[in-house]
Amino acid sequence: MSKAFASEDMSKILLTEEEIQKRVKEMAKQLSDDYRDKNPLMIAILRGAVLFFSDLVREMDIHVELNFLAISSYGSGTESTGDVRIQYDMQESIKDRHVIVVEDIIDSGRTITHLKEILEARHPASIAVVALLDKPSRREVEVEGEYVGFTVPNEFVVGYGLDFAGKYRNIKYIGVLKPEIYA
Ligand code: PRP
Repeated sequence: MSKAFASEDMSKILLTEEEIQKRVKEMAKQLSDDYRDKNPLMIAILRGAVLFFSDLVREMDIHVELNFLAISSYGSGTESTGDVRIQYDMQESIKDRHVIVVEDIIDSGRTITHLKEILEARHPASIAVVALLDKPSRREVEVEGEYVGFTVPNEFVVGYGLDFAGKYRNIKYIGVLKPEIYA
């Protein structure tokens, strides 16, 4: 078998494609059960969540609506700057809607905390956060996702939407980047 794409830049593979897809199916089933007849509005936070979002919604067996929001908390480096900004907002009203925010990772927690404040001010019926990955060891703001795929250690993870300087998002697995790549 040929080597997985970009595997030479990884110190290890943390989550294989099979492990991710199995967990995505489980999360989709849980969400479908919890939101049946609620016609939730699922919002992907660009750009990292797009791969997870696209797999997750296709595994759900209830009607959902989709929208997108771009928010940025990082520069091109590895650390959160704490500078959270909306770069692209939705035109659609979320008043009285059941909103499901879909993220790739909760790290310091700043992005999701800020985002929840913005969305709550728009008076949705409910807001839940779905995150594929959670890195609680890096938390600076006390916040938890309602649905979390995997808890990951404090390592530089890339792939399946997660990038380093814009690269590695289009990898089907999640790997730990070799330090010499980002040092
Ligand atoms: C990443 C990720 C989350 C955020 C989490 O986004 O997608 O939105 O950082 O970090 P935090 O909990 O420390 O705030 P990023 O700003 O890198 O943008 P991207 O999704 O376009 O990669």
